[in-house]
Formats: sequence, C-alpha cells, structure tokens
Amino acid sequence: PEFLRVSTEKGVGRIELRRPKVLNALNRRMVAELVEMLESFDREDTVGAILLTGGPKAFAAGADIDEMAGATAAEMLTMDPFADWDRIRRVSKPIVAAVNGYALGGGCELAMACDLIFASETARFGQPEIDLGVMPGAGGTQRLTRAVGKARAMEMVLTGKPITAKEAYAAGLINRVVPAEVLEEEAMKMARELASKPPVALRLAKRAVQRAAEIGLEAGLDYEQKLFYFLFSTEDQKEGMQAFMEKRRPEFRGK
Ligand code: HXC
Repeated sequence: PEFLRVSTEKGVGRIELRRPKVLNALNRRMVAELVEMLESFDREDTVGAILLTGGPKAFAAGADIDEMAGATAAEMLTMDPFADWDRIRRVSKPIVAAVNGYALGGGCELAMACDLIFASETARFGQPEIDLGVMPGAGGTQRLTRAVGKARAMEMVLTGKPITAKEAYAAGLINRVVPAEVLEEEAMKMARELASKPPVALRLAKRAVQRAAEIGLEAGLDYEQKLFYFLFSTEDQKEGMQAFMEKRRPEFRGK
C-alpha cells in the first residue's frame, strides 16, 4: 500500500496511516487501501484483533479537502465515497484506534468506526465540517451523538470546535487517555488482550454491541439473545465454562 504501513505481531494486525505531509488527510486511495487491509486481517486466522494508528501530529485531519473541493453533488453521489466507509463497519474483529494529535472530520469518524479508542493527552477530536460549508458525512452526526449524547454532539457539530482527549474521555467518546510516549504500547496491550479471547464469541459480542447503537431496544435485546444461544453450539463455550469450573485457564480454538 502507498499510504499505509502494515505489520502483524502476536495475533495483532497493525495498520498505520501514513500521509504525514497532509496530516493523514484521507483521500479515496488511502481509504480503499485501509478497507482492503482491514478485510484482509479479518480473513487472516492468525490475527485476532486490529490496531489502527496515525502519526505523531495527526491520527487523520479529515477527508482530503483538495480531492472533494470541486465535486458536484451528482459526482459525490455517483462516486459514493461512503460505500467504502460502510465496509469498515462490517469488519468482524475488534479494532483498537490509537489516536495521537488531530482526529478531525473523517478522522474523528474513522476513530469512532473503531471499537475502542485510546488517545494521547494531546489528541483532539472534532467535526469541523461546518466551517467548510458541509457537515459530517461518514457517521459523525450519528455515532458521535450516540457516544456523547445530544447536547455535546450538537455543540461539536454546529460549532466545529474540537474537544480535548480529557473532555472526550469524560463524555464517553474514548476508552483511555495516556501520555503520548506510552500510547502505542497501551493500545497494543489492549489489542493483544482482545486477540487472546475466544474468537467466535468476540466477534459476535462486537456485533451485538454495534447493533445496540443501530437498532431499537426490543430488536437489540432479541438479537443479543439469539447470538447468546448460538454460542452454546461452539466448543469454546464448553471449554470456557468447563475451565472455569475446574479452576484452570481455558484454551480457545475458535470452534
Ligand atoms: C487536505 C489537509 C487537510 C485535509 C490538513 N491538510 N488537513 N489537506 N485535506 N483535511 C494539509 C494542509 O493543507 C497543509 O498542507 C498540511 O496538511 C499541514 O496542515 P496545516 O493546516 O498547515 O497545519 P496546522 O496549521 O498545524 O493545522 C492543523 C489543522 C488544519 C488544524 C488540522 O490542517 C485543519 O484545519 N485541517 C482541516 C481539518 C478539517 O476541516 N477536516 C474536515 C475535512 S472534511 P500544505 O500543502 O499547505 O503544507 C471531512 C468530511 C468527512 O472530513 C467526510 C468523510 C469522507
């Protein structure tokens, strides 16, 4: 890939956004590469979780403004850049975002499309699209509102003003705030922990939590119950519960 650096270590697929000259502005090529890499890790048996990170100054400063500036509505509709973004949501393994510096516009939306967010103390989260004469388009009005509530989301989306990592943590947008020096290490530790979990249960649990934000309570509870019952058809469920009763560590096989 041209705009990513990719590696695998100890069950974790690591993806680093790399377009530092423009603060990791997400052009279509970069998003396509990212989606392909996420899907390829999703298929790879040796990978249990994914770590997504950016650079020291920016996780990503948004969609590439230069690329969109001249587009007409008809062109945007037919190019449909968000079709690629929708594929991120369907990645079944958990994705941990490690956010350093700016996560703005599409960058904030990308972080929110991940399952856990770790941020450095200097990280900033915002939806500045309003000041470009547009609005968030890759989930910013929906995911942000569900994460931080209406009051906060409305203010962020209408004013375009970013919030600090500390504020994002207090609002429930992110999981951890850590010093920049240990961000990668802490996020990787979490990704490794997730990679050690029983793979089938992990995927279904992720999906069920996602559904909570997507559908109403009754349908969500129903969906959750069905997945729970289904897990009793896996060997990992038998092993996990057996090991608990025998006071030993379980050995999960993804079966
Ligand atoms: C294209 C970008 C960019 C972006 C930064 N750059 N963000 N290029 N698209 N989103 C480029 C700058 O033009 C500049 O290029 C270089 O990166 C460094 O940026 P500076 O502005 O010089 O840095 P700084 O003064 O430190 O300011 C950092 C910043 C600012 C506050 C993050 O760059 C900024 O406001 N960026 C735009 C943020 C934004 O509006 N994002 C929303 C995009 S719309 P040169 O060549 O001059 O060095 C969006 C829609 C979502 O995301 C839809 C999803 C598909």
